[in-house]
Amino acid sequence: MTDFAFRRDERAERAYLVGVALRQSQALISIADSLAELALLAETAGIHVVGQSQQTLRRINPKTFVGSGKLAEIAEQVIICDANVVIFDDELSPRHQREIEKQLGESVRLLDRSALILDIFAQHARTSEGALQVELAQYEYRLPRLTRQWTHLARQAGGGAARGGAGGVGLRGPGETQLEVDRREITRKITRLKADLEHVRAHRSLHRARRQVSGLPLVALVGYTNAGKSTLINALSDSDIYVADQLFATLDPTTRRIPLPDGSEALLSDTVGFIQKLPTTLIAAFRATLEEVTEADLLLHVVDISHPNATQHIEAVEDILAEIDAAHMPRLLILNKVDRLPGGPQPPPLIDNYAAIVPVSAREGLGLDALRDAIGEVAARQSIQLDIVIPYQAGQVYSDLYDKGYIESERTSDSGWELRLRLPQALRGNYQRYAVRAGE
Ligand code: GTP
Repeated sequence: MTDFAFRRDERAERAYLVGVALRQSQALISIADSLAELALLAETAGIHVVGQSQQTLRRINPKTFVGSGKLAEIAEQVIICDANVVIFDDELSPRHQREIEKQLGESVRLLDRSALILDIFAQHARTSEGALQVELAQYEYRLPRLTRQWTHLARQAGGGAARGGAGGVGLRGPGETQLEVDRREITRKITRLKADLEHVRAHRSLHRARRQVSGLPLVALVGYTNAGKSTLINALSDSDIYVADQLFATLDPTTRRIPLPDGSEALLSDTVGFIQKLPTTLIAAFRATLEEVTEADLLLHVVDISHPNATQHIEAVEDILAEIDAAHMPRLLILNKVDRLPGGPQPPPLIDNYAAIVPVSAREGLGLDALRDAIGEVAARQSIQLDIVIPYQAGQVYSDLYDKGYIESERTSDSGWELRLRLPQALRGNYQRYAVRAGE
């Protein structure tokens, strides 16, 4: 858990949700569905939802976000429902936050979707890199929103912010307010976290370089949260990754070897689940992890096709892929959870971007052979065929090739091992000097 993870007695947190629809905007998901998703996020974070309200507006009120009358009504409802947390479905600006807090009073904690997602990410980060990224995102989110009230609360929470340096560790200079000291401390902390991440990142690219040398095609899973990515990686690799019916159960990338139909193998990595309205500070902080996605040879976009908003989920994932410059990458669309649709899945409308569409049930093991075939086909298209002769004295090269390539045929002759093999395009240069004839 990172510094900002809320300390909570689960039953003590009762939330009232607030959603806003803008008359002219073309929101991806209807306000009702977005609020249902927010309720799921709240439950995932251990907060019980006791009521909700929505408003359609021509424009956001610059002061109070919703209309001022609506805000007064919300404050009343909060008392009636005995709520002690109010969660807005959209990211609130620092000004909105201040004004709404004023109206709701000190006994009610105000959150927005971004803060909630950051909190869930903080609870689920398992590796040190994941934790650093979330912590950085949280500090960047909090910095412009620092108020006297918050710093006070942070210090009360004990350990957390004090450990992070924001809770009054810094010495106050002449004429400096506590708030200024806190800001300075947080800015310093952000700089430190960025440096730490840079360090982890350098290590990570070494790791990645080693993996690329392994020569196996890299396949990355992407998808909306809860689509079934971890279940699929388990089904394909016969492994045991944590699967849970909750949002963002997987935060840190996991990589497994999976066998392909032609006897070769690929590396399959899971990535963080996507969701609409992902906080921008979080996308920025996770850019490094998401680089895994852009460096893959193939993306498997997993969608829960049994979900009523499946098409919107695909769009949200596509939007994030575009944001991380991965929109051009070859990808397959995996329609998961078909076991829930006895009539078979209806292909969604946004399918032009995909090399193939494969219906599966990761949980029931349906359609997995077809999926392996489709992965194998794309992987093969990205490899090259080579005929080579390895002299007997170069035994190491010969055994390396068994690790890195897929040997299609082999025979021995006076000059050495004669191999016909498929290799990832990137490794061709390493073996060119043994080549008899370059294939297609
Ligand atoms: P995040 O960690 O949020 O990104 O989720 P994920 O995409 O890794 O999903 P995960 O594999 O954790 O699965 C989410 C839920 O969907 C779990 O309760 C799974 O058991 C369920 N699930 C996954 N695949 C299937 C399937 O083919 N059919 C059905 N009915 N449920 C499935």
